[in-house]
Amino acid sequence: MQLRALSGLSYLIVLAPLFLVGCTREAPLTYVISEPVQELPTLHQEQIESTLTRLFGSPLEPRLMMPSESEGSAEDSDEAKTQEPPLESLVDAAQLAHGARVYRNQCAGCHGVSGDGNGAAAPYLQPRPRDYRQGVFKFTSTAYGSKPTRSDLERIIRRGARGTSMPAFRWMSEEDLNAVIRYVMHLSYRGELERYLTQVAMDYDEEEEIDPAEFFDAMQRIHGSWVQAGDRIVHPRTPPPQYSSETVLAGRKAFLSRGCSKCHGDDGRGQTDWLSHEFLAEQEAKPEHERVQLNRDAWGHIAPAADLTAGMLHGGRRPVDIYRRIYSGINGTPMPGFADALAEEPETIWHLVHYITSIVEGGPVRPEGAEGVESTEGQDATEGQEATEGQEGVEGQEEAAAEPAESTSS
Ligand code: HEC
Ligand code: HEC
Repeated sequence: MQLRALSGLSYLIVLAPLFLVGCTREAPLTYVISEPVQELPTLHQEQIESTLTRLFGSPLEPRLMMPSESEGSAEDSDEAKTQEPPLESLVDAAQLAHGARVYRNQCAGCHGVSGDGNGAAAPYLQPRPRDYRQGVFKFTSTAYGSKPTRSDLERIIRRGARGTSMPAFRWMSEEDLNAVIRYVMHLSYRGELERYLTQVAMDYDEEEEIDPAEFFDAMQRIHGSWVQAGDRIVHPRTPPPQYSSETVLAGRKAFLSRGCSKCHGDDGRGQTDWLSHEFLAEQEAKPEHERVQLNRDAWGHIAPAADLTAGMLHGGRRPVDIYRRIYSGINGTPMPGFADALAEEPETIWHLVHYITSIVEGGPVRPEGAEGVESTEGQDATEGQEATEGQEGVEGQEEAAAEPAESTSS
């Protein structure tokens, strides 16, 4: 109890000055053009910038436009044929602008105005706030490589990522929440398109214009990947077995024999020492071949295997959350998925879940889950409740909650 209070307090003390910095420094209200784009020939730079502005507007007047699929207007004149197709809005403009305001007030201090993860507070945070521009999200209920569903984003924003600086916005109004989710998606679409076009530009000569079709195909593809997320939700292949000392033991065996311990250590404590300056200095002093191979994530940051005993699973602690981390892996990080490796023995995934649940608080959790989890947690009653839900029949519930990412036109 005391320990929790203390860590809560130190979190506040550390972060308070950062937020002050965030408030006093007026954030620039334009989207930052990424460095790789700045290195392109002027023609391509201008083309990419103007297309991004046409499709996404600015932080004060954001939009999310898509080339319209109807061919009709393109045939009206020869001129129209060579021009870019007409655009239609994917979202309600007022809602998006509202989301942009919520984002500026509550998120940009960490995630940056452009969603590049470079807000004023970012340099002081470990792990770093997510850079949405890669279009990669870690804590999804969907298969490896997929986008999150709307309810995945809702969950991370409402609950935060424990053990990281990502706060829980429990009391945010539904309206603000829906709007800010929209806006995060908008930033992610924009960033992903920008990245893709930077690569495409390399295939063109300096004075050759990029074919507008490239812009629009890419945009369709990105949009498609968000829309499809709802169909790619991972449902446990077998129902969870009753939690018991046998299942925990079976899980421990698998943990040691299936390679988990190679990264997470025999005790599950992970590679957290990687984050200390001493460790890094020590590594640097060694000759190349003696150094530990430091894995990095898609954002280029050192990505140590998680400490599974710390009581802070970033991706959620419901059994189904842990199941999905193991089954699908974690997008953009070295954590591999075990769907294939354990295809013949799907129950082993549940055993691993039970084992992790048993070590997560540094001690076993009571079989029924709920009371045990809740009382040590102290965070709130719903969390404990959810843990039981997970064990019983999350599947149906999740299905009901999950909604294809695109359908918000309300
Ligand atoms: C104090 C800093 C901070 C603030 C403020 C903040 N975040 Fe985060 N956010 C983070 C960090 C750090 C992570 C990365 C956590 C990780 O990698 O485990 C993150 C991750 C995320 C993710 C990625 C989840 C995933 O599955 O990859 C989303 C989405 C997100 N934040 C949305 C928001 C929104 C929306 C707001 C404002 C309403 C917000 N954040 C405010 C620090 C912050
Ligand atoms: C190649 C190294 C590697 C292997 C092998 C590996 N992991 Fe991981 N694991 C990671 C990394 C790195 C992370 C942290 C990802 C991140 O940055 O959020 C992680 C995260 C996790 C998480 C999520 C923790 C959270 O905060 O939500 C779970 C659960 C997990 N691993 C379980 C396992 C299990 C069970 C196995 C074996 C079946 C396993 N891992 C094998 C590297 C590995």
